[in-house]
Amino acid sequence: MKKGGKTPMQKKRESWGSRLGVILAVAGSAVGLGNFLRFPVQAVKNGGGVFMIPYIISFLILGLPLMWIEWTIGRFGGGFGHGTAPGVFHTMWQKNRFIKYFGVIGIFGPLVIFMYYTYIESWLLGYTIFSLTPKYISLSTADQIREFLSWYRESGYSYLFFVITFLLNILVVYFGIKKGIEKFCNWAMPILLGLAIFLVIRVLTLKSFDPQFPENNPIKGLEFLWTPDFSKLLDPKVWLAAAGQIFFTLSVGIGVILTYASYLKKTDDVILSGLTSSATNEFVEVVLGGSIVIPAAFTFLGAQKAAEIAKYGAFDLGFVTMPLIFKQIPLGVIFSFCWFFLLFLAGITSSVSLAQPAIAFLEDEFDIPKKDAVLIYGVLSFLLCQPSIFLLKYGVVDELDFWGGTFCLVLFGCIEAILFSWVFGINKAWDEMHFGAQMRLPRIYKFIIKYITPLVLITILVAYLATEGINVILLKNVPKENIPVVIFTRIYLLTLFVVLGVLVREAWRKRAL
Ligand code: ALA
Repeated sequence: MKKGGKTPMQKKRESWGSRLGVILAVAGSAVGLGNFLRFPVQAVKNGGGVFMIPYIISFLILGLPLMWIEWTIGRFGGGFGHGTAPGVFHTMWQKNRFIKYFGVIGIFGPLVIFMYYTYIESWLLGYTIFSLTPKYISLSTADQIREFLSWYRESGYSYLFFVITFLLNILVVYFGIKKGIEKFCNWAMPILLGLAIFLVIRVLTLKSFDPQFPENNPIKGLEFLWTPDFSKLLDPKVWLAAAGQIFFTLSVGIGVILTYASYLKKTDDVILSGLTSSATNEFVEVVLGGSIVIPAAFTFLGAQKAAEIAKYGAFDLGFVTMPLIFKQIPLGVIFSFCWFFLLFLAGITSSVSLAQPAIAFLEDEFDIPKKDAVLIYGVLSFLLCQPSIFLLKYGVVDELDFWGGTFCLVLFGCIEAILFSWVFGINKAWDEMHFGAQMRLPRIYKFIIKYITPLVLITILVAYLATEGINVILLKNVPKENIPVVIFTRIYLLTLFVVLGVLVREAWRKRAL
């Protein structure tokens, strides 16, 4: 064994209770706000039905391979007592002293996303409760609903619901993998699916709201969403958007799936399980997510306005348009409640997975007992979340989303793919993937994972930086008054990254003694 490494099964780690449990937990991490809000908006903006061509190709050559890579390397590293990327990367390339520092991205990324995701998630909890109150029920126009949203953000309630949401997240991870995350996802995921199906049925049976336009019905809304605009197929932005959506929706390239997979047993299957959780996510995204907001907005507003609203963004669609539609139908209060609760469940099953890597890092690399690790994480991440709350209007969340939720994903995905196929070696990697597997992958995937996935990832990274990324990095689209806060956020993130790097160095130094 190399200095700083661990021998297989050096210490007892937690493990999942059942196969279904881990699949639901991974699917829970994947199914999030992206499925119900981000996906339909991206589809409308990027050529409707034609968006599905780059989307499906990205799923096959990026999403699925990265899903399998993360399941495989997570299980591999877990066998050596490592549940996060620094340790996992180190076990894959023991000769290299620096590779563990690349793994810092796999703790940094989820932590940064957690810093704003929990706050947005807390609004959904707040709205779930408020949707039942007379104050909210009495709102009847889009402007009133928007005013309510501003009032909510400024009021103490938004902080109160943030604290509750935060504590719920911490409570779930406090009980550990099997008794916390798995148990929670075991009931949250079926409820989520039930709510989504219930809302799809209700939306698809809506009638036109305007007798003058009987053609504004949900089926025409689906047609509007899926009619292909082939001219968009040659637009590189559409391809980038599709690849971005695949990363975001599957939660690959973040580091969370790798951590979840580290709690598998060596003989547990990764191929069929990775495929099942990805397929579950795609069903929820394309079939259910595609059948709620756009058909509803189309029925209520007609093609032109629905397209305008979709372009305006997912946020308005979720918080303003959907509740407004539900207000026009019988028992609308119940539907509004279900809508916000559905989004809250989708959010919390994702955010608990974002918390787990940092906790696993403290446990695995510093031998800190689980409950203490959760408490340390709780206190530190609570403090780290504060800028998202108090500096929201200065663009902090956009900045965190760029670094944690966009740039790091592609970069980390690139590193994983290259390490897996080229350093660990595709033959060894292929055998490792198939160890305990309940199905074999077609051999074409050996070629895809070795050449296509890394090549496409590098191309995307370069293309993204050269187009949108460079403008973000150079603060091109930041309003002048937000620049100081955005710079502060960057220093804040850089400091966090360096601190994590120092912790990795300390962990390895301690072990070498
Ligand atoms: N995968 C999660 C989502 O779709 C982050 O929202």
